[in-house]
Amino acid sequence: MIIGDLRLFNDGDALNYAAAQRWVQLAEAAISARGKFHIALSGGSTPRALYQRIANPDFATRIAWDRVHVYFGDERTVPPDNADSNFRMAKEALLDHVPIPSAQIYRMEGEMEDAHEAATKYARLLSSRLPMSSQGIVQFDLLLLGVGPDGHIASLFPGTPVLHERARLVEAVFVEKFETWRITLTLPVIDHARHVLILVGGEGKAPIMRDVFAARTTPPYPVQLINPQGVLEWYLDEAAASLLPEALRS
Ligand code: 6PG
Repeated sequence: MIIGDLRLFNDGDALNYAAAQRWVQLAEAAISARGKFHIALSGGSTPRALYQRIANPDFATRIAWDRVHVYFGDERTVPPDNADSNFRMAKEALLDHVPIPSAQIYRMEGEMEDAHEAATKYARLLSSRLPMSSQGIVQFDLLLLGVGPDGHIASLFPGTPVLHERARLVEAVFVEKFETWRITLTLPVIDHARHVLILVGGEGKAPIMRDVFAARTTPPYPVQLINPQGVLEWYLDEAAASLLPEALRS
């Protein structure tokens, strides 16, 4: 059973506008309550459109970037200037266009020879920088996710052992279909975020959204495994929601 609040938008622009509004609202709340805003960015083309939207002055000027700390939900095992790097994507779409101190941008070091070592190093960084939830798990203020056509989130792909990891905060995972290693946050970190925002756009995602929101699937898709202790919101455009039952679309 999928949990959380589902919001539908006419198109990608409307979805990004609403997601940018949510980002501003959560940043203001976190900064006034705790002095900082800790956000985990997702890779992918859907989140990239949001980053480009936030970089526009109408939103960028509403965020106290000197209080913002940017992390990543997953990373490819490539150097930061590689076309496949999630860091490079976020840098080009957003981080190069806003006055965030570079010391407050925390890359997963995909260029490291050993992805497991990179994962361990990033877990140590999270533990040293992030506040803890009441259960002692590092806690983001906002954690952004896209969903792949196979139901993966971050680099939590179907059938991978990392789906069962409940102790480590960050793991290296070998993704068979891409024949490559990835570095990813684990489910406990996602679940302990104060706010999880899942962004899904385009008709290509309609089948997976239909399946994810339908009855329980066996085995469950990775996105169905999340159980956020905080707020979970799904932002879908009409195209991605086009195969959802009428009851969910009203
Ligand atoms: C990545 C992302 C990944 C992405 C989904 C959706 O590293 O690719 O973290 O989880 O969010 O694949 O990507 P699209 O929005 O491009 O479909």
